Amino acid sequence: MEAILLVGGQGTRLRPLTISTPKPLLPTAGVAFLAHQLARAHAEGVERIVFATSYRAEMFEEAFGNRAHGVDLVYVVEDEPLGTGGAIRNAARALTSGPDDPVLILNGDILSGHDVRAQVKLHEEAGAAVTLHLTEVDDPSRFGCVPTDDHGRVTAFLEKTPDPVTNQINAGCYVFRRSVIDTIPEGEVVSVERETFPALIASGATVMGHVESGYWLDVGTPEAFVRGSRDLVLGALASPAMPGEPGERLTLPGASVAADAVVAGGTSIGRGAVIESGATVTGSVLLDDAFVAEGATVRDSVLSRGARVGGGAVLDGVVLGDGAVVGPGNELRGGLRVWPGVELPPTAVRFSADT
Ligand code: GTP
Repeated sequence: MEAILLVGGQGTRLRPLTISTPKPLLPTAGVAFLAHQLARAHAEGVERIVFATSYRAEMFEEAFGNRAHGVDLVYVVEDEPLGTGGAIRNAARALTSGPDDPVLILNGDILSGHDVRAQVKLHEEAGAAVTLHLTEVDDPSRFGCVPTDDHGRVTAFLEKTPDPVTNQINAGCYVFRRSVIDTIPEGEVVSVERETFPALIASGATVMGHVESGYWLDVGTPEAFVRGSRDLVLGALASPAMPGEPGERLTLPGASVAADAVVAGGTSIGRGAVIESGATVTGSVLLDDAFVAEGATVRDSVLSRGARVGGGAVLDGVVLGDGAVVGPGNELRGGLRVWPGVELPPTAVRFSADT
């Protein structure tokens, strides 16, 4: 089976991490986020993937070449971002599938353990135009929701509302009949979520919902990105691409961790990163050459390449951009983001977004 992977978004919610690296290439549990998706797609029977690229397009081919994790790869670049539907239509020119074949569409920022083969089987048995993976969430008011009838047929594609009719939401993985992709207008900005799916339902086309609520995470925000990396390191979601066994921490070659530092909770430590004596690092992502000095505490945070945390500083739920420096004795909490290259002098900040 062939797939189209949507990776052209700017990842604005993940800035400053996405200034130098597109979201799907951010190191996650030791490898580019997409490596986990490619390995999983291969395990689910996908043989060839067309990357729909736009933002920092050239970086994808540099990262993966023409074959990785058992899958053949081709790249299609948009001159201007075309939105999710326009990107699918544009990438379809590189498909080799026939008109009735199923084509898998994957959002490039989803970690999912769902059964893709079962989704494809439902699609083929129903003779559907499109079959969506739907997952159930506790608070559907934060998402658009997707009700289905007793036969699993999607009856509506609803925008966010404070009073949702179902807890089923669009999980960002679709099976399209190839010929249906060809009905999306060419060379235009189109959203599958806002335009294509509602129009297909209104026209009476068969749109099916494959409801499965195993592990699922949209890594579009810093909190979710940290959680995704942590879950992979801890083994909450198994990934064939993980460069090590699941456990409390993943230490890449060339990293250095003092014997009396406490590093746990699914932390990943990049190449050349250093954690000094007496430091505590839990549930965090340290990219290459990050540095945590003596006695510092880092929790649920991301330290980008070369970012430095000074002695005794405390970080909780914080994102440091490339080369950012937090001087000794600072205390940063509650979603604070420090832009690349910014240096906070010693004890300059005692900040909590909550106070
Ligand atoms: P935010 O800016 O933080 O919302 O992130 P995003 O740009 O990734 O947008 P969103 O999470 O809504 O996108 C869902 C998926 O579609 C991601 O995998 C994006 O890379 C991809 N995507 C969004 N817009 C485009 C586009 O115009 N072209 C292409 N090729 N992919 C897109």
